[in-house]
Amino acid sequence: MALKELLKNKAINGRRLFWLISGPISVAMIIAMSRTDLSSGPAVSSMIQLSVRCAVPLLFIAFASSSVQKLFPGPFGIWMLRNRKYVGLCFAAAMAWQGFFILWMTIIHSDYYANEVYVLRDAIEGVLGYLFLTAMVVTSFKPGRKLLKPRNWRLLHLSGIYFLWAYAFSVYWWNLFYYGAPVLLDYIYYCGGLLAWTMRAAAWGKKRGGLKDTATAAKLLGGAIIVFALVAANTGSVWWQSAENVLKPTAFLESLELWLPYWPFTPFLPLFAFGLGVFLMTKAKA
Ligand code: HEM
Repeated sequence: MALKELLKNKAINGRRLFWLISGPISVAMIIAMSRTDLSSGPAVSSMIQLSVRCAVPLLFIAFASSSVQKLFPGPFGIWMLRNRKYVGLCFAAAMAWQGFFILWMTIIHSDYYANEVYVLRDAIEGVLGYLFLTAMVVTSFKPGRKLLKPRNWRLLHLSGIYFLWAYAFSVYWWNLFYYGAPVLLDYIYYCGGLLAWTMRAAAWGKKRGGLKDTATAAKLLGGAIIVFALVAANTGSVWWQSAENVLKPTAFLESLELWLPYWPFTPFLPLFAFGLGVFLMTKAKA
């Protein structure tokens, strides 16, 4: 059976795909709960970790969906675009489990949360993440979608998916390049987040006009910047402190880190460079 026919199968499309993915995730969460003594803060935290580890790959797939079809047009790209909403809803379902355990931790184990977990900036990023996610879920269905003009709907879903991607990507960046005791999954999820972003940047470059009309010098400069960006994206522990010293030279800029989401954007600096490289290598269509 050709891939095209296989990917049209009802079982892996639409609502059925949603239940095919979020059903087993929910069963796994219930089994994990039954095997975990949730009377302690660390135990509930491990359930938070498990639920969000189920969620993050779905986020990265939803984030990269439109780029797959742009870069590699074909049945798989069409399947990803057709089911982007349902993959997004699967992400939301897994995040609902994280939300349930977060409430459990903050209400039942509030001392543990206050003493071991709570950091103002993380809480602001986390709550904003859930506000975006809730608004994206509500407006994924007809009644909710009618509340927004198409332009505002796109703005919400674009800024929302970027905010949520940035949260997950930065968590794994700091796990790899700052906390210094990464596990294998941290590397896999960091690479997944990086790949999803670079695919979006490449798709943007292709949409802009691609390489064909760009001067050789611009291609070489852009290519060199992209290589530099990819090296920097994998050597964060070498340069992050110097970068932060440059970005936070004053007490005021230092103080922004206490509450401003993602400031001073250290994990994303190589990605900005990557974007600049793509911009230089591609020429905007007339
Ligand atoms: C106020 C809201 C939030 C709170 C209180 C919260 C709390 C936590 C806690 C306690 C952990 C550590 C679990 C452990 O390692 O034991 C964690 C991990 C994590 N959270 Fe959240 N979170 C929130 C929102 C979010 C949002 C919106 C995202 C977006 C994707 C997210 C993504 C993650 C990721 C990626 C991890 C790392 C999991 C791993 O170790 O692989 N969280 N969170």
